[in-house]
Amino acid sequence: MDEINDRSTHAGALVVFGATGDLAHKMIFPALHAMASRGVLTVPVLGVAASGWSLDQLREHARDGIEQAGKTDDRAALDRLLSLLRYVDGDYHDPETFLKLKQALGETRHPAYYLAIPPALFGTVIKGLGETGLAGQARLIVEKPFGRDLASARELNRIALSAFPENAIFRIDHYLGKEAIMNILYFRFANAFLEPIWNRNSIASVQITLSEDFGVKGRGAFYESAGCLRDVIQNHLFQIVALLAMEPPAYQGYGAVHNEKAKVFQAMRPLHPNDMVRGQYRGYLDEPCVAHDSDIETFCALRLFIDSWRWAGVPWYLRAGKCLSTTAAEILVELKPPPQRLFDDSAPEAGRANYLRFRLSPNSAVALAARVKRAGKEFVGDQRELYLSEEQAGAEMPYERLLSDAMAGNGALFTREDAVEAAWRVVDPVLEMHPKVQPYEPGTWGPAAADELIRAHGSWHNPSLEAPNTPADTRNGKASSH
Ligand code: BG6
Repeated sequence: MDEINDRSTHAGALVVFGATGDLAHKMIFPALHAMASRGVLTVPVLGVAASGWSLDQLREHARDGIEQAGKTDDRAALDRLLSLLRYVDGDYHDPETFLKLKQALGETRHPAYYLAIPPALFGTVIKGLGETGLAGQARLIVEKPFGRDLASARELNRIALSAFPENAIFRIDHYLGKEAIMNILYFRFANAFLEPIWNRNSIASVQITLSEDFGVKGRGAFYESAGCLRDVIQNHLFQIVALLAMEPPAYQGYGAVHNEKAKVFQAMRPLHPNDMVRGQYRGYLDEPCVAHDSDIETFCALRLFIDSWRWAGVPWYLRAGKCLSTTAAEILVELKPPPQRLFDDSAPEAGRANYLRFRLSPNSAVALAARVKRAGKEFVGDQRELYLSEEQAGAEMPYERLLSDAMAGNGALFTREDAVEAAWRVVDPVLEMHPKVQPYEPGTWGPAAADELIRAHGSWHNPSLEAPNTPADTRNGKASSH
């Protein structure tokens, strides 16, 4: 999927703004360590922050992050990474900081600037880079959230594009770097058998669940400004929808994939408050930095429509939440039942119709469920899964993959300006106008109203942590498997 663009030259350095912060500690340093371990990190890594730290303190911060991520096996890689680290201390509002950075970069070609900083500072840093002449022939890597609504996303894009061309901007949505999610694109278009059924004629509905069995984990302040819809649905889940719903790319190259994904967001119907259920786990109000009367959702379920030729009339149900029953992510593509009910145990009366299930986490798998006759003179059977497990040892972790790609100038797994804005256009109407949150008990599947939302098309498929090959639907008694 490589596409030659004029920035395909490898970055001569990685500059991490916010290097002393949490994201760098938890994600970036462990990813850099993995890259060093694979031998693909050979250029200097310059940390920039206004913490008043020394280089040794930054090294300690990096070492600690890597150890806490459980990466203690490759000491040589750790030493290599630490020897590549540099540190520039300074306030982002002070032009002197950028002059110091310029000096530290010297003749470095194509530096990649990673903004691991609050979005409110993006503009200041991008302006500083531009004014110091540091933006030319360089790359910009930004983290989600890309704005908090359509207007702020446009503003953010405007600021980034004032100093960097679109093909030099790498917007990270780490879901796009996950193997199981990359496999959606591959599985759909590397196999021809799917295409004839992959549309409104054969598909009854699509569900995507991203559930986590833990709360906001001390990120109350962030959650109060975001909520579940902004945190994981408008980005991670929407990206999954786009990969499932897109038309085949017209040619080999990531530009073609970006075009088709953007069209899916453009065809999504803007959400209406009736298409949404918001929940809040009991106990959220006691989290640090959370308002005592907060109406922020920690659970969100949506009914979404894509008004395109392929998907007209097919509902897409998305659901995500904290403090739910389990930590897992799955897609269930439910197929229509046979047109005639020839057997007493046919769907939908006897349970879920045939489906395709993509297990995204904690393990990766694809399953196709079909009914098979049970031995005996009765024409009754069970829904059984053809199950493909795709666990592969040694797969790159998302941040490792995405950082390596951005440094190499490969934009395949990043999101494009038009797609980001089109996705915000879909959620914009319900960011302010929405139903109130409904409380739910931790360890459940969220408020009961979410079940009502999907009722017209059956029930939610709850991903389980049980051993692979045990489809969830065989345990609810609807369609038993032996
Ligand atoms: C992040 C969200 O983007 O994604 C978190 O901010 C969420 O709230 C996380 O927990 C989920 O990512 P993953 O890779 O653990 O499924």
